Amino acid sequence: MDADARSSKAARAATARQYQPYLEADWGFKNSWYPALFSFELKDNEIKGITIAGHEIALRRSKGRVYAIRDRCAHRGVRMSLRPTCLTDDTISCWYHGFTYNLSDGRLRTIVASPEDPLIGQLRLRTYPVAERAGIIFLFVGDEEYHPAPPLEADLPIHISDDPKPVAHLLDPEVYVRGIHRLGNSNWRLAVENGFDPGHLLIHWDNQIIAATDRNLGLGARPISDEAIKIIDEPDGPKGMMNMYNTRGYKFFGENREIGIKARGRKPYYARTSVFLPGLLLVEHWPAPAWAQYEWYVPTDDKHHEYWEVLVGHCAGEEARREADYLYEHFFEPLALKDFNDNDLFAREAMQSFYEHGGWNQENLCAFDDAAIVWRKIASRFNRGIQEPPFRRAAR
Ligand code: FES
Ligand SMILES: [Fe+2]
Repeated sequence: MDADARSSKAARAATARQYQPYLEADWGFKNSWYPALFSFELKDNEIKGITIAGHEIALRRSKGRVYAIRDRCAHRGVRMSLRPTCLTDDTISCWYHGFTYNLSDGRLRTIVASPEDPLIGQLRLRTYPVAERAGIIFLFVGDEEYHPAPPLEADLPIHISDDPKPVAHLLDPEVYVRGIHRLGNSNWRLAVENGFDPGHLLIHWDNQIIAATDRNLGLGARPISDEAIKIIDEPDGPKGMMNMYNTRGYKFFGENREIGIKARGRKPYYARTSVFLPGLLLVEHWPAPAWAQYEWYVPTDDKHHEYWEVLVGHCAGEEARREADYLYEHFFEPLALKDFNDNDLFAREAMQSFYEHGGWNQENLCAFDDAAIVWRKIASRFNRGIQEPPFRRAAR
């Protein structure tokens, strides 16, 4: 190794030490609110099994209310959601030998084939706090002892106040919320960093939405002063950062003369990205002015995430809702959530093998990656704990 290579390796290592906790968060951050399902995906009396940050969880809706309980029977460890069995309104039974647990506190209430068993009342499965808001079921995932859970608002974006026409917030009273979620074959951190990456517009330069709307998003942007990135640190509220694209903090690049490439589209278009813990992107004024796109990158395990793409818009009254449905179905979902974001998903999945095999110490970050470094430091500082892998948790 020559002297240059040695010194750049040392510089990389010195930077990486500043966000060491982030590098250890393969399984995500714990003690945080994550979306689990859209409300419409869990009908009354239905049971569904999901996995968040290695936690296997069964969700059941009973009399309208959603309960979340560990999805491994205490008897012999099968996932109860594999064959949903509900014998009363307030319990969940394991389909195998009938261990039956209270939904509210997880206690073993009875065993179908052994009603006088001394184990009854002695065992319990842990439960998880649930919040169902804006058509989404959120779970607070992490340590059972972490009590009380902070309000859901602490893990959602801030209410935007500096914009003359602010986008709607997910929890606003008259709001349109609709989207999709799907599996991403990459670690959740690669997904978050792709979401707000100021240098990745090349993957979008020929996307359908750009051609159809004639928008010019530029080729990339580089932070050039402290004004570029605003740290968000609300007391007892959201933590994250905002890319201040409309300030002198960022220098935009619309073309690269060296290789003769120009951003497509004639109309300049302004959208702004922010990112919040535990791993949530907000894009203001996207895919259309006054709309907001929320993206959660929910860790499933250390190699997969659930990619949530949700659009949020102002919406008062039935007619506005019908209009929003039309836009969603014919424009937003096919051109933005699918075609445009398919490219993002492709990029994250393409990075996975490199990062899985030591890439965090081998990457060569460039000028626009300052945004990623700031995020890594913020995430290291403000998280509520690093999720241990499930096998280590079980051994405690
Ligand atoms: S494995 Fe669940 S009751 Fe036996
Ligand atoms: Fe993108």
